[in-house]
Amino acid sequence: MDDVKRVTTQTLQQMKKTATPIAMLTAYDYTSARILDEAGVDVLLVGDSASNVMAGHETTLPITLDQMIYHAQCVVRAVSRALVVVDLPFGSYQGNPLEALNSAIRVMKETGAHAVKLEGGEAVVSAVERILEAGIPVMGHLGLTPQSIYRFGTYKVRARDEEEADRLRKDAKLLDDVGCFAVVLEKIPAELAGEVSRSIRMPTIGIGAGMHCDGQVLVTHDALGLTTDFNPRFVRHYANLAETITEAVHDYVQDVRTRQFPAENESY
Ligand code: KIV
Repeated sequence: MDDVKRVTTQTLQQMKKTATPIAMLTAYDYTSARILDEAGVDVLLVGDSASNVMAGHETTLPITLDQMIYHAQCVVRAVSRALVVVDLPFGSYQGNPLEALNSAIRVMKETGAHAVKLEGGEAVVSAVERILEAGIPVMGHLGLTPQSIYRFGTYKVRARDEEEADRLRKDAKLLDDVGCFAVVLEKIPAELAGEVSRSIRMPTIGIGAGMHCDGQVLVTHDALGLTTDFNPRFVRHYANLAETITEAVHDYVQDVRTRQFPAENESY
């Protein structure tokens, strides 16, 4: 799949068929999106986690549709290979299917992104259908859905009990049946994620959902070690950029203080 010129929703379905794991990361700005795209990420998610990692809010709830559109525009400008998916933020789709459709149309028209993602199962399925009818691809999101954090009350693993696991199985089948092209499974037992992945047609993208999903997603700031105060078990740090940046900035400050910067060959 590394030779694919442009990743599409069909590419992802093909990857599931050939058991090629899908690599997804979040992106919110032009410069990082360009690096991630060139490094070979299949899907870039303009996640509403921008509310946390870009804006410093405690939850994903405050970010607005206008703000998501701004981040998506920056990402789309940078990307030439990856599929760009944009989160519909809290309050932009739960009201009714027409509200959901209008939000999805704004995202597609104003950003040039390729698909939208929204959280929930049965409760949002009519909204999902309305968006799909307009020709807009939809990615689902089940398990720990951060927009419902005040209902859950905690960020603990979801669907550990049989009742919630069964609801998740049904919701995944529902989203699959109406035609979602993929679904994020967040923070659920690995065994359940594996069972769901095997039972549905669309690819599952796991975060804290174990190794049996059809793909994996992480928040880029977590994977690259830019966030220092968020260390759940499911995050693997592929770099420690917070440390690298701190050292670089210390060196810069030191060089300025001691007039080591700029040098003769850095001046006109
Ligand atoms: O907003 C986000 O970053 C997400 C991922 C955690 C899947 O939804």
